[in-house]
Amino acid sequence: MIDAPRCDRTTAWVALQGHYEAHGRDFDLREAFARDPGRFDTFAFEAPEIRADLSKNHIDLATLRLLLELARECRLPERRDAMLAGEPVNHTEGRAVLHTALRAPKGQGPYSEQVHGVLERMLAFAEQVRDTARSGIRHVVNIGIGGSDLGPQMAVPALDAFVHPGLQFHFVSNVDGHDIAPVLRRLKPQETLFIVASKTFTTQETMANAHVARQWFLQHGGTDLARHFVATTTNVQAAAEFGITTTFGFWDWVGGRYSMWSAIGLPIALAIGADHFRALLAGAHAMDRHFAEAPLERNLPVILGLLDVWYRNFHRYTSRSIAPYHQGLKRLPAYLQQLEMESNGKRVDLDGEPLPYGTAPVVWGEPGTNGQHAYFQMLHQGTDVIPVEFILVRHPTHGHADLHAKLLANGLAQAQALMLGKTTEQALGEKAPTASAMLDAAIIARHRTFPGNRPSTTLLLEQLTPRSLGALIALYEHRVFTSGALWRINSFDQWGVELGKALCNDLLPRLASKDTSGLDASTAGLLRWLTA
Ligand code: F6P
Repeated sequence: MIDAPRCDRTTAWVALQGHYEAHGRDFDLREAFARDPGRFDTFAFEAPEIRADLSKNHIDLATLRLLLELARECRLPERRDAMLAGEPVNHTEGRAVLHTALRAPKGQGPYSEQVHGVLERMLAFAEQVRDTARSGIRHVVNIGIGGSDLGPQMAVPALDAFVHPGLQFHFVSNVDGHDIAPVLRRLKPQETLFIVASKTFTTQETMANAHVARQWFLQHGGTDLARHFVATTTNVQAAAEFGITTTFGFWDWVGGRYSMWSAIGLPIALAIGADHFRALLAGAHAMDRHFAEAPLERNLPVILGLLDVWYRNFHRYTSRSIAPYHQGLKRLPAYLQQLEMESNGKRVDLDGEPLPYGTAPVVWGEPGTNGQHAYFQMLHQGTDVIPVEFILVRHPTHGHADLHAKLLANGLAQAQALMLGKTTEQALGEKAPTASAMLDAAIIARHRTFPGNRPSTTLLLEQLTPRSLGALIALYEHRVFTSGALWRINSFDQWGVELGKALCNDLLPRLASKDTSGLDASTAGLLRWLTA
């Protein structure tokens, strides 16, 4: 493992602290733009498929220089290269982390033969099913949770313009029967393909839903189970025991939340077809090369990861809001929640030492413009500063140019309003609404004041295509790697989900037996309520 210091034990960290006290805490975006007319160009970055405007962030060139020094002191390039070379950087599980190998062209990258073997088989299968006149399939149901659900669930609507018109996609993840029940109501066994997606093929929710689906299939006259159920898993043996003969495998060096490029992407391949799925991989690969090869100071995932450290550890912002101005990206915030918070929601460093600084922020959001009519009030006038990430798409895949212009104008306006704000003097100059006539104009003006100076980043895609979506997701993956590497944490394990699973196994039989012995008083009381 690369020996690298913890970020707070570097000289760059100390310098950044001084820089924050002197220039960071009171940084004013409006003054920064007034001082430097070239600020937009200085903080405009380009990566494959994506342009990024970072000029509305609380950074100047000195901030960037110090953050880059921090990255070098923390040996970010060496740690990146170790991951890309297949070293076991997920040290608590003794595993390599090679999702990048899944999108490397044939003959390149580690495990190429295995990767392309499964990919070709999976894409050939997808094309067979997409021949709906022959296959008879109309509905595809993906049963999986977390990393075995969120990637396809995010990507299929994102790529709606490319989706096979004769196939409907359903995603069942929750062990709550309210998830699967309404889906099953709409299906006919002979028209349905179930995909049981689970890296381990042991996850409680997925196995429970898979059993419900199998029972429903048989009870509703389904025949040829082997043709209607397939699995995507690393545990081929367990899938066979379930009765599934068609399995698309992957490997332990593919983390769940990094697995949409593997067989877990089968619903995406079914939706958009082999060529578009290859384009998705190619977009991600282009971003991998950018991450691996671009100088740190022009390396977009690196710069974004460094900005995350700057905001989390110096400004101490605890959350970041994602605002995709594209309805197709409605599940992107949920996808990023797992990617960022399961990866970097860690409290000890690589040696197991408790960390004195914050790690993953809360990541949340909704598509614009819906979010504007819900929580943007708080972003503009609340007491907390929350950096916002706007994702704009220049060309729509629909023909409603007027709607798209309004959407883009809204996105631009929100970023502008967050930055510029509105002074009390400006508010005083405005005509107060009639209902406010009872109140003193000065009081009303204070309510109508926006502090402004609120940071945002804008990512711009030309169009939301398989290729650009691939690049966008890979950008986020490498950004999460960057901040995780600086925090000196293992971004690739997820021990934090285990305790709840074990306790659930203890509680499940108690719901039937009503046995509360040995339980804490609150859980015992709740169990009594539930079983009375
Ligand atoms: O929530 C924990 C987790 O292990 C995730 O990391 C993973 O994506 C999810 O459960 C599903 O796991 P599996 O693919 O093994 O069913």
